[in-house]
Amino acid sequence: MSSRSKVAVIGGGGNVGAAVAFSIIACGIHADVIIVDAAEKLAEGQALDIADASHLSPANCCVGTFKEAGDCDVIIITAGARQQPGEPRSKLLNRNYSIMKSIIDNIKPIKETAVFIVVSNPVDVLASVIQRLTKLPYNQVMGSGTFLDSARLRNNLSEKLKISSSSIHAYILGEHGDDQFVGWSSATVAGTPLLSYDAIKDLDLNEIEKDISRKAYEIIEAKGSTYYGIGLHVAYLTRAVLGDERKVIPVSTFIKQYDAYMSIPSIVGAKGAEPVEINLDDQEKEHLQHAAIKIKGMCDQLNY
Ligand code: 2OP
Repeated sequence: MSSRSKVAVIGGGGNVGAAVAFSIIACGIHADVIIVDAAEKLAEGQALDIADASHLSPANCCVGTFKEAGDCDVIIITAGARQQPGEPRSKLLNRNYSIMKSIIDNIKPIKETAVFIVVSNPVDVLASVIQRLTKLPYNQVMGSGTFLDSARLRNNLSEKLKISSSSIHAYILGEHGDDQFVGWSSATVAGTPLLSYDAIKDLDLNEIEKDISRKAYEIIEAKGSTYYGIGLHVAYLTRAVLGDERKVIPVSTFIKQYDAYMSIPSIVGAKGAEPVEINLDDQEKEHLQHAAIKIKGMCDQLNY
């Protein structure tokens, strides 16, 4: 008998969690999705709504308990306070740290091979928190990191250069937060460094970097929170794990050299995420070091 993969979306009563669950259904991923939330009524409502779409998909969706979540193959965490307009992600730390602790207490025992995808912010610090609380190997805990920011970058460059975003290989690196930066030195089109293209010489690269980092603020200012973009990106990560696709994706992973969870391109598959070596120039290395110090500082402040 072939057993179906089980995916839990903890915090699925909220907009981000519901968008993740809906995206898994819409992408046709073969999985049973459970929506788990301390706000039980909300979880039930989202599950009922999303389940209406499931006859068009191989995926199912229903409400689940925290205990059931611990037995899932992929455990996605979207729970927690969300940013207010103008508020940096880092300001959510104390509120969301307590929520992470209570989630882990409630879902134990955790399946030994489970892969966690942390989406709640500040995602790099909370991925580290979840790894420490679960004691799972580093590769089994990833944060959605700068996957979404990198898509924002590729879309932005695509519009300017008139090249499909899927043919532009460029990453936002480091923190999923205000200290993120573009890895210009590793950005390529058709294997050629982006920086050597004539068309790029007319662009204001600092302005592009700033626009990407401001994008979430802009959306939050206009509609309160961001959820469709991240929803689909997390579904894509889920598929990469369940299908052992070993895709290279910029997610927040533990980088030994910097002793912190941060985003660099990583191989995402059944065992979770493992960072890959990329070329960085001296300034980019400094940026990563700076981000690592900031992220570690926030972790230390939690004193756990
Ligand atoms: C985003 O970047 C707010 O972290 C969320 O859309």
